[in-house]
Amino acid sequence: MTGDLAMHRDVLTVIGAGGIGQAIARRSGAGKTVLLADNNDETLASTVESLSAGGHHVLSRSVDVASAQSVRGLAQYAASLGNVTHLAHTAGLSPAQASAQAILAVDLLGVALVLQEFGAVVAPGGAGVVIASMAGHLVPALTAEQEHALAHRPPVDLLSLDFVSRVNEPAFAYPIAKQANHVRVRAASAQWGRRGARINSISPGIISTPMGHLELDSAAGDGMRAMIAMSGTGRIGTPDDIAAAAAFLLGPDASFITGTDLLVDGGVIAAVRSGTQ
Ligand SMILES: NC(=O)c1ccc[n+]([C@@H]2O[C@H](COP(=O)([O-])OP(=O)(O)OC[C@H]3O[C@@H](n4cnc5c(N)ncnc54)[C@H](O)[C@@H]3O)[C@@H](O)[C@H]2O)c1
Repeated sequence: MTGDLAMHRDVLTVIGAGGIGQAIARRSGAGKTVLLADNNDETLASTVESLSAGGHHVLSRSVDVASAQSVRGLAQYAASLGNVTHLAHTAGLSPAQASAQAILAVDLLGVALVLQEFGAVVAPGGAGVVIASMAGHLVPALTAEQEHALAHRPPVDLLSLDFVSRVNEPAFAYPIAKQANHVRVRAASAQWGRRGARINSISPGIISTPMGHLELDSAAGDGMRAMIAMSGTGRIGTPDDIAAAAAFLLGPDASFITGTDLLVDGGVIAAVRSGTQ
């Protein structure tokens, strides 16, 4: 492929080059320029190598999603490559990996920054997905006032909101951040809609990735295995299960779907909510 032709390709930006990001890039990247971004250079290099070996046209860039400047630079770089038609935001930290503060910075603030900056460059007809989590469905609902603040305050203010700044347990920071993602995506659908683009979130259940296995090996592991056992599917999810849902939401069959969350959890939340034994 010549440089000229490559310049006219649509751009799929995948932020987070881990298990789920890699599966989405592989599933949805053919024929596009895939811009992969992560803050871990090793992960980035190995994912680029694997996708390139599979025939994809891949570029990479280091990004820290908790930094406004870094995310803005990534969005501008994506726009310089061609039409920013597709975005998959998968970067995240889980409770077994990081402090509450780091989880809130990456999983809550990071998503707000990505929605804002990519909402400013996404092409008409484009679409994005944010990978949230079923954990966001497991915590009590926010009050109307909390929800309004999470939806509309500028990203820079989010971590200093009273009820956010008081969170100091990683196991609580994660579901709060993921619930905030649902709220922020709903609100961002207006900004994206004004550009003729759509944005949704996916809430995965327990998925077999490096992050999923870290959590299964942690103190929370027994509870997670019990949830899998009680679910309708009775199995762990694969990165490809999430990539299939992302392909649907990013594609033409979802043209009337925006500002919502798709739960892809093998039935865990259904079982928990209905008290299935
Ligand atoms: N695996 C699961 O069981 C599961 C379940 C529910 C939700 N999720 C969510 O799915 C998303 C993807 O998870 P995964 O399973 O692919 O995990 P993963 O650990 O394989 O990939 C996550 C990637 O995010 C990157 N990252 C972390 N902090 C970053 C930062 N500040 N800036 C840029 N990149 C950063 C990591 O380097 C890593 O490559 C996460 O948001 C996670 O919370 C995962």
